[in-house]
Amino acid sequence: MAKSASTSRAASRKRPSVRALRGTVFVTRQVHFNAAHRLHNPTKSAAWNVEKFGLCNNPRWHGHNYVLEVTVAGEPDPETGYLLDLGGLKGLLEERIVRVCDHRNLNEEVPFLRDVIPSTENLVIAFWHELEPHIKNGRLHSVKLYETPRNFAEYRGPAAAA
Ligand code: NI
Repeated sequence: MAKSASTSRAASRKRPSVRALRGTVFVTRQVHFNAAHRLHNPTKSAAWNVEKFGLCNNPRWHGHNYVLEVTVAGEPDPETGYLLDLGGLKGLLEERIVRVCDHRNLNEEVPFLRDVIPSTENLVIAFWHELEPHIKNGRLHSVKLYETPRNFAEYRGPAAAA
């Protein structure tokens, strides 16, 4: 009995510890923005553009309620259990994407989209290049953009397999 009580007192004096779990996790932040655009290739004829883009070629523009999901991959920090500060990722998305795209005309008002046809496909590639250099913890894994709840595109970077 005496021995057991002494062992238990020793255990209670032990320094607290945390167990780090290893594994790659994928952390996603979602943001929203509204923007106008027009799908139009100025090097082609009006007829070609109408045939390819239909209503999306409307010269008076049209808009979408975009939903952007950005995923970062990596291992949790053993001291925090976090891969990254989600508030920091939110701030980066707000600064680099939402601030410059929300309530804007994507064809005319966004410097990094100059001369780019603002299809969902092109937008995810452009957004990747805007964000990737600023991801400090983990690595950028995916940029997914919903143009409508049923139409979306995803880019996983230049190194991703086709
Ligand atoms: Ni559209």
